[in-house]
Amino acid sequence: MNLCIIGTGYVGLVSGACFSDLGNNVICVDKDEKKINNLKEGIIPIYEPGLEELVKKNYKSGRLNFSTDMKYAINKSNIIFICVGTPNKKRTYEADLSQVYKVSKVIAQYINKFKIIITKSTVPITTGDKIENIIKRKRSKKFFSIVSNPEFLREGEAIRDFMYPDRVVIGTNNKKSIKILKNLYDPIVKRGIKLLITSRRSAELIKYASNAFLATKISYINEIANLCEKTNVNIEDVSIGIGLDQRIGSRFLRPGPGYGGSCFPKDTRSILSTAKKFKTKLSIIESTVKSNDYRNNLMLARITKILKNRIKNKRITFLGVTFKPNTDDMRESLSLKLIPKLHKSGAIINYYDPSGKKEEFKKFKNVFFSNKITSACAKSDLIIIHTEWNEFKNLNFKKFVKNKKFIIFDMRNIYSHNKMMSNNINYFAVGR
Ligand SMILES: NC(=O)c1ccc[n+]([C@@H]2O[C@H](COP(=O)([O-])OP(=O)(O)OC[C@H]3O[C@@H](n4cnc5c(N)ncnc54)[C@H](O)[C@@H]3O)[C@@H](O)[C@H]2O)c1
Repeated sequence: MNLCIIGTGYVGLVSGACFSDLGNNVICVDKDEKKINNLKEGIIPIYEPGLEELVKKNYKSGRLNFSTDMKYAINKSNIIFICVGTPNKKRTYEADLSQVYKVSKVIAQYINKFKIIITKSTVPITTGDKIENIIKRKRSKKFFSIVSNPEFLREGEAIRDFMYPDRVVIGTNNKKSIKILKNLYDPIVKRGIKLLITSRRSAELIKYASNAFLATKISYINEIANLCEKTNVNIEDVSIGIGLDQRIGSRFLRPGPGYGGSCFPKDTRSILSTAKKFKTKLSIIESTVKSNDYRNNLMLARITKILKNRIKNKRITFLGVTFKPNTDDMRESLSLKLIPKLHKSGAIINYYDPSGKKEEFKKFKNVFFSNKITSACAKSDLIIIHTEWNEFKNLNFKKFVKNKKFIIFDMRNIYSHNKMMSNNINYFAVGR
């Protein structure tokens, strides 16, 4: 099949690479000329395990192409995926759909025969209806069908998630589109993956409701972790004990600094704004958002307490600054709040992240990137394990930290308390 993917970011590039690997001809389009030129040179704009190999292999085979020419890409394709960003608006937190609508207008201009237009971007209920209206102004309804096909991939696991998802959701009642999309997803469905056909609005809501539920699960276990700290209970035992109940399940029951990333914060806020528009109260999701904001502040309070309120001139090292491992995505990472605040209080920050130096910290005078764990930690007073990258999981801190009185704050509980105590390391974790 001939596909056009508009928006070559985390979702668009992974989708394009995977669909081409499944035998389709794919043109990935982006307005960012530099990104497209780099991709043609084999330079991948994001850190995502396995993506570079997949992109290079399929580009070489000729099935995967990159372009900034929307007209050409739309003309060549029978299925168009919209994969542009849908961030929150600054003040209201409703989803900013300007990129989606802009692209829809361009699509309307260039449709030359029947096309299936799919929102893979996360969009609020009724967005499909609005795109349909935009395109109807230019083209007769017989030329297109608007479908919602939300994407559930996780950064860091994106290729596996795309190829072996828990489910594929297709939201449309257009029979022709269902038939074509069943064909498109057939290689994935054949692996035993469930294909769920729903109305377009249901599919739109499934994505938000799923993300909000997962965010709630994280906030829930974080609050239980707070209670564990006060009662001398180990959250690890509690998580296992809860998770073994099959009605609950063990995933997303690990305590940490609070959820971040490009999806949960924006999608929880955005579903609240949709609910408000439809005069519905989503009090549980409201609490989840509040709980996560509180958690973020709590982490700063804990650091302050660990350092006995003396932050000025303290050398603080961050191991990992991304919101989770195996991605370079910094969107809504807690480090973006913690590092500026600690810097403002006079701390000297060193950070190491396997995905490299971050633009976001360049403006701070006393925030330094080290390209080795050892040099980042060498003179540290406090080492904060912020992201659970594998390379942080088995470190012999005593060997390379020169400051004898260093402290570790393990926000991800990757080390054992007992091991740290037996090594005489002043160690703090969460919920235990
Ligand atoms: N990142 C994730 O883990 C993830 C997972 C599931 C769903 N989603 C959803 O997928 C959507 C995309 O997310 P992302 O993380 O891939 O975003 P992203 O910011 O990484 O990528 C968006 C891309 O769209 C391009 N773009 C914007 N306007 C354009 C236009 N007019 N023409 C052509 N290209 C344009 C941008 O240049 C950028 O490369 C969002 O709605 C997000 O909520 C993201």
